[in-house]
Amino acid sequence: MIARDLIASAHIHRGEAEAVLAMVLGVDRAWLYAHGDDPIAKAAVDRFNELIHARREGKPLAYLLGYCDFWTVRLQVNQHVLIPRRETEHLVEWALEQIDAGASRVLDMGTGSGAIALSCKASRPAAQVSGLDSSPHALDCARENAIALGLEVDWLLSDWFSALSSRTWQLIIANPPYIAADDPHLLQGDLPAEPASALIGGATGMESLQHIIQHARDHLSDGGWLLLEHGFDQASAVRAALQEHGFCAVTTRADWSGHERLTGGQWTR
Ligand SMILES: C[S@@+](CC[C@H](N)C(=O)[O-])C[C@H]1O[C@@H](n2cnc3c(N)ncnc32)[C@H](O)[C@@H]1O
Repeated sequence: MIARDLIASAHIHRGEAEAVLAMVLGVDRAWLYAHGDDPIAKAAVDRFNELIHARREGKPLAYLLGYCDFWTVRLQVNQHVLIPRRETEHLVEWALEQIDAGASRVLDMGTGSGAIALSCKASRPAAQVSGLDSSPHALDCARENAIALGLEVDWLLSDWFSALSSRTWQLIIANPPYIAADDPHLLQGDLPAEPASALIGGATGMESLQHIIQHARDHLSDGGWLLLEHGFDQASAVRAALQEHGFCAVTTRADWSGHERLTGGQWTR
């Protein structure tokens, strides 16, 4: 079979089929356009069909490819980590603004693949960046990404703040799990294949956010910022929780679609 016909036979999004075939053949997608009439070896056809079957069964493309591009970095991803989302790049942008304003010690809580920590370190190499997760498998993935990218990050295994004793940072960033346990969205798209521990923030979805907001001030230096990603309908609850716990300059930012998805506040003693 030739490349063009193989891609058409997949009956999934054309770009995804091209990405899968390019990976199987070890070429880039542009090659497929120049070689659309080339015959494909049977072993490659079989591997392609196997992966396309897995995609149709609901396995996310990023897990099939084994990587995901985020900010300026290519990250390895697997079933132990959330596939980094485009919207989270807004959080990186805000974090970099804070680093540029003087925050040099930075903690990414719930780092997963290391997406936020590694993006910050790649863009601001002088920053001292820590990445924390309660999942040893996620930390393995983050660590491997750091090695592949040649970036130095301090990786911490911890259930939120529990293993941090009295350490403080000038900037704490988190994209914690924030979906309610009974939210029907958990059954849609790529979500059923992603780790529940990366998605579900408790019965209401607010539990992880509340916990982080409640304890962050013990780990922020004077004037430090806490920046949080949250669901599109959680902004007012996150603002209220930050204010209740003494944060000032509480601000919400919208994502590219106009949804209120990020909220931050400053801690002053
Ligand atoms: C929504 S994912 C975010 C992953 C990554 N930061 C990103 O933006 O792509 C949430 C992460 O929080 C971690 N997590 C969940 N509960 C945690 C806890 N109690 N302590 C530390 N990390 C936790 C999960 O393992 C997961 O990696």
